[in-house]
Amino acid sequence: MITIAIDGPSGAGKSTIAKKVAERLSVEYIDTGAMYRAVGYKVSSLGLDLGDEKALKDMLASTDIDFVSGDIILDGVCVNDKIRTSEISQMASKVSALGPVREKLVELQRAMGKKKSVIMDGRDIGTNVLTDATYKFFMTASAEERAKRRYDELIAKGEIITFEQVLEDINARDKNDMERELNPLRKAEDAMEIDTTGLSIEEVTDVILKNIVTSEE
Ligand code: DC
Repeated sequence: MITIAIDGPSGAGKSTIAKKVAERLSVEYIDTGAMYRAVGYKVSSLGLDLGDEKALKDMLASTDIDFVSGDIILDGVCVNDKIRTSEISQMASKVSALGPVREKLVELQRAMGKKKSVIMDGRDIGTNVLTDATYKFFMTASAEERAKRRYDELIAKGEIITFEQVLEDINARDKNDMERELNPLRKAEDAMEIDTTGLSIEEVTDVILKNIVTSEE
C-alpha cells in the first residue's frame, strides 16, 4: 500500500496533477478540498450562521460525505457541479477554519487513507492527515499564475468575473489558509517542494512519477 500526500495553495495545480498520477499508478484520488467545499455548499444552502456552534455541530452530525467513482457525494447526492463557484470557494475557506468541521473531515480522510492506496491532495495532508505518507509533495506557483489558471477555468465554465477579482480571491484564500490557527497550510519538513510556475501539467506529473519510481527502485 502506498499513500501520497500533495499539499499547496489554491490553483497550484494539485488536483489536475493528482488525478494524472492516480491514473498512472492505479491508486484512488481523494480531493479533500472538495470535502470542505461540500460542507461550505451545505452551510450556504441552509443559510446556517457559522457563529452558532450548536447548529454547526448538529448539521455535521447529520452530514454524509463520500467519493463514488471520483464523484463527491453529499448526503446521497452528487454535488460535483455545485461546489466550484467563487462563492463556494470563499465559503469553503471559511468553514475550513472551524474546529468541528476539520475534526469531522480529517477523521473521514484518515479512514480513507487506511483502506487502500491513495493520493490525497489538500492543505494539511502531509502535516496532519497522513503524517506517515509514503511520499509527500508541496506544490507552489506564483499568485499571478495561479489566478490566471483559475480565471481560465471559471471563464470556460461561463462565470462572469475579472482577472483582478480572481487574483483578489486567491490572495484572500492564501491568507485564510496560511494564517488560520488549525492546521494551516504549511510544507511538511519531509515534503519535496515543486514550483510549478512555467511548467506544463506533463512536466509536473513526470517530476512526481520519477520521484516515486526512483525511490521504489
Ligand atoms: O483545494 P480547494 O481550493 O478545493 O479547497 C477548498 C478550501 O478548503 C480551501 O480554501 C482550503 C480548504 N482546505 C483545507 O483547509 N484543508 C484541506 N486539506 C483541503 C482544503
